[in-house]
Amino acid sequence: MRAYDVIKNKRDSKKLAQNEIKYLIKGFVDGSIPDYQMAAFLMAVYFQGMDEEETYWLTDCMRTSGDLIELDGISGITVDKHSTGGVGDKTSLVLGPVLAALGLKVAKMSGRGLGHTGGTIDKLEAIEGFSCELTRQQFIDAVNKTGVVIVGQTGNLVPADKKIYALRDVTATVDSIPLIAASIMSKKLAVANKILVLDVKVGSGAFMKSLEDARTLARLMVKIGTQGGRKVSAVLSNMDEPLGEMIGNAVEVQEAVETLQNKGPESFTQLIRTLAAQALVLAENGKISTADAEARVDLVLQNGAAYKKFLEMVEIQGGNPAKINQLPKARQTIELKADQDGFVSSMQCEEIGLAAMMLGAGRETKDSVIDMAVGLKLIRHVGDQIRKGDVIAEVYVNPDRGDNSKAIKRLRDAICISSKKANASPLILDIIS
Ligand code: URA
Repeated sequence: MRAYDVIKNKRDSKKLAQNEIKYLIKGFVDGSIPDYQMAAFLMAVYFQGMDEEETYWLTDCMRTSGDLIELDGISGITVDKHSTGGVGDKTSLVLGPVLAALGLKVAKMSGRGLGHTGGTIDKLEAIEGFSCELTRQQFIDAVNKTGVVIVGQTGNLVPADKKIYALRDVTATVDSIPLIAASIMSKKLAVANKILVLDVKVGSGAFMKSLEDARTLARLMVKIGTQGGRKVSAVLSNMDEPLGEMIGNAVEVQEAVETLQNKGPESFTQLIRTLAAQALVLAENGKISTADAEARVDLVLQNGAAYKKFLEMVEIQGGNPAKINQLPKARQTIELKADQDGFVSSMQCEEIGLAAMMLGAGRETKDSVIDMAVGLKLIRHVGDQIRKGDVIAEVYVNPDRGDNSKAIKRLRDAICISSKKANASPLILDIIS
């Protein structure tokens, strides 16, 4: 077999055989197939697509390219969640403890952020002493004890995805539905969780800009996951504006804490309710209705059980629960005021994420150092009526980091104000199970 022929077959829109995909992925990971051939293959997939069977084979070859993580030592039903990425996305910080309070086990491996999206691990490190580095045994023991632990990825998990993603990033082949599905699901299926809940973001701040594409991606991922022996559900949620109000690291932890105390923004709480209820319905094999599952989620938010789980997680991972309200604080708050009367008509999510990154809340390159304290709060949302001079956002800055004016201008330009009223889209757009 030659890589040339596999590329040519895909270029000519032929269905690939499982062994052709295996040959290509194995050869690329061991270095016998060079970057330029893989880049040509990725572009062929970008234009010709892959059917469900090919995408499953690709996922499975990528999944088995490195370590597989068994969670045998954990007693109970293990649940994982994946978000396709968004701005202000602190879902794991709240969903993990909520699921633990519902009696499920969350052994979560998360990543760091790069560019306009922040990483869960970065956010958690805003908590003094919190460590995301546990040995495999400490990880299992901690999950058995508290029900929820969030650590950084260790070992050699899906090296094929790391290598392929780096190439996709520089060859304009990231936004291909089969490539995204295989990338996400290979990593999810490399860890032996029983239940998987997918949060597929749709909108200006997401990979999937249209609801139709997001549905196609979600259906494909649910199929792949089911074929891989998992119970899977996907929630499609709106990313036309950032999730919740806070964007940054310490400020997102603060918003997560408030949400766990049932005092968070309604939209974010609704997403948590929906995702957690899906996990619960899957765990109970459909023997509970979605409405009852949602009521159980609300109960653990109202009675403090979910917040208690969060504090237990903080403690077992080296943080001090008594200091959870003493997170790093920026030295200065700048109010961003509306310069005209009108309505907030839209927000360019990605631009808002990039503005937060420029303030120091995210990484421009892999080596950038994050400032845990800086960030912003969106006071006004799409659809809100405003008057000239109203505060639309608060920007938390550390002036000694340098001039923040470009970041603030980027934020201002990303919040569009118009004379016509615009309606915000609903947060939950669909559920695919
Ligand atoms: N997230 C991933 O892990 N992979 C993709 O290709 C896109 C989003």
